[in-house]
Amino acid sequence: MTDPTPTPQAWQAVDRYFADTLVGHDPDLAAAVAAQHAAGMPAIEVAPVNGKFLHLLARIAGARRVLEIGTLGAFSTIWLARALPADGEVVTIEAEPAIAAVARENVDRAGVGDRVQILVGRGADVLPTLAGGTPFDLVFIDADKESNTIYLDWAARLGHPGTVVVVDNVARSGRVADPATGDAQIEGVRAGLEMLGDDPRFDATALQTLDAKGWDGVAIAIIR
Ligand code: DHB
Ligand code: MG
Repeated sequence: MTDPTPTPQAWQAVDRYFADTLVGHDPDLAAAVAAQHAAGMPAIEVAPVNGKFLHLLARIAGARRVLEIGTLGAFSTIWLARALPADGEVVTIEAEPAIAAVARENVDRAGVGDRVQILVGRGADVLPTLAGGTPFDLVFIDADKESNTIYLDWAARLGHPGTVVVVDNVARSGRVADPATGDAQIEGVRAGLEMLGDDPRFDATALQTLDAKGWDGVAIAIIR
């Protein structure tokens, strides 16, 4: 019987096993990550198992329109775009123009460029411009954590009953449950989770994850 304590070697081996067995290698996704790193952008894209999770959620939801807040190198964007029908669209918001340019090359190389619209600007400025458009079926929030409550509010406004909302990075190596971090990002994550628990527009849960990104977590909600 194996030791029930998840040592780093043990959970990293499990993550590799899951990724090798269920996700596999994809040259376009690997090229996107390589271009992101070559451009000096941080290696904070979602883990491969998490990218596939987002992709499956979009398919399970039958999503046609996806909103992503925080594009980075478009790794998750590509996973989400591949889940959509040919006339579907990912609208993804990136604050930094230089990062958006790398993301554009990455989605084009991956063959999903026609299904991805990259809007450059801060989420809080860009999101109001989307009001009145066709509602989104899935919203993925993965940007500056301090703004998570703003992003959740817009997710509720821009979605419809049944829209799936996913928030990345909700465990942050356990720091989310430490009341005394004094870290603005952790406070933002916590405020977002409390909103998901209290705001009647959402029904939510969260799962801890141990994967290529370490110990973190993902919140998932449905708009009522
Ligand atoms: C950070 C941000 C992310 O979205 C992530 O997935 C991991 C880390 C960060 O800002 O440190
Ligand atoms: Mg993230």
